[in-house]
Amino acid sequence: MKTQIFKPDLHNIKICSKLLKESQIVGVPTETVYGLSANAYDDFAIDEIFKAKGRPIDNPLIVHIGNIDMLYQLVSDVCITRKRLIEKFWPGALTIIFKKSDMVSKKITAGLDTVAIRFPNNPIILNLINESNLPLAAPSANKSGKPSPTKASHVFDDFNGIIPGILDGGECQIGVESTVVNVKCNKIEILRPGNVTLNMLKESFLDLNIEESYLKKFKTIDKIVSPGLKYKHYSPNANVVILRGELDKFKKYLSYKNNKTDCALVFDEDEEHMNFPCIPYGPKDDSIIQAKFLFSCLREIDKRNIQNLYVRYPCEKNIGEAVLNRLIKASDFEVIDLV
Ligand code: TXA
Ligand code: MG
Repeated sequence: MKTQIFKPDLHNIKICSKLLKESQIVGVPTETVYGLSANAYDDFAIDEIFKAKGRPIDNPLIVHIGNIDMLYQLVSDVCITRKRLIEKFWPGALTIIFKKSDMVSKKITAGLDTVAIRFPNNPIILNLINESNLPLAAPSANKSGKPSPTKASHVFDDFNGIIPGILDGGECQIGVESTVVNVKCNKIEILRPGNVTLNMLKESFLDLNIEESYLKKFKTIDKIVSPGLKYKHYSPNANVVILRGELDKFKKYLSYKNNKTDCALVFDEDEEHMNFPCIPYGPKDDSIIQAKFLFSCLREIDKRNIQNLYVRYPCEKNIGEAVLNRLIKASDFEVIDLV
C-alpha cells in the first residue's frame, strides 16, 4: 500500500471520508497532535488501529466529535459539571470521560464502561467528521511508546505503507496531547495534563475541587519510585535523562559524557554557550513554545541515532506541566538534581 499525503481541500476530505466508510484508517491533524482516525462505530477498523500502532488492547481510545448531537449518541449521562466543562472548553484540547452508551463498543474503551470524548478545534478534522457524519476514534498517530506526531511527515515516518492516507494540516498549533479529565461528585480529576491547565480549571470552577491524578513523582539518584508505577512512553530510542539545575552545572555534568554518541536538549538561549552537541526546544521561560516543539525534537533525536539525551528541566508553569509530564515519561522517570 502506498500512503498518500493529501492536501486538505474538499475533494480530498471526500476521498478520506470514503476511506473511513470502507473501514480504513486516515491520519488527520488536530490542534494538539495528529491522530490515527477510524469510524468509531466500526469494530474492524478499531482493531486495525490497535494493530497499526502496536497499542496494548487495555489502553482505550478517544472518540472525536464534530457537533454536540454526536455526544448524546455516545454517552449515557452528561452531568452538570460536564456540561460546564463543555461550555467553557469545547471545541478544544480537553478530553472528558463519560459513562458510555450502548452504541460504543468495548473495543474502543478497552472493556471499560466509560468513554473518552473530545470535540477538537481544528477545521480539517471537523470537516472530516462532518463530511463523513461519523464520530472518529483517534489515538495519537505514533507507533505505541514513541513521541506523538506534530507534522504529517511524522505520521508518514511511522505509518508509510500501513495506512492509505494522511491529511496534511501543517504543524500542530499546540504540540502536546489534550488534557484528559474525569468528573467525580464535585471533583474534577486531571488524568493527563495538557493545554487546558490546572490553573485554567481552578479559575473556571471555583466551587469544585480540582485534583491532579497523574503521576508526578520521579526517581532521583537515591530514590526510585515503585516499579509498578513506571510506564515508559513518548520516548525516542535514546536513553533520556532530565537534569535539574543551572546551566553551568548542566555543562559540567556533560563534560564527563561522550560528545560523539550523546546529545543535549536545551533552551534556545543556552545554545551559544554549549560545547556539546545540542538541540534547542524553545526559550527557557516559554512553555507554549517548548510544548509546540518538544515532540519534533525527540523525533529528530531518533534521526540522529543518539544514545543518551540529556534534557534541561522545563519551566513547570501552565502548559509546562504537560511538557514535564511527557519528558518524565520519556525518561522513564529519570530526573537528576545537579549539585
Ligand atoms: O490530543 C489528543 O488527545 C490526541 C489527539 C489525536 O486528539 N489523542 C490522543 O490519544 O492523545 P491517545 O490515545 O494517544 O491518548 C488517549 C489517552 C490515553 O492516555 C488513554 O489511556 C486515555 O486517554 N483514555 C481513553 N479512554 C479513557 C477512559 N475511558 N478512561 C480513562 N482514560 C482514558
Ligand atoms: Mg498517544
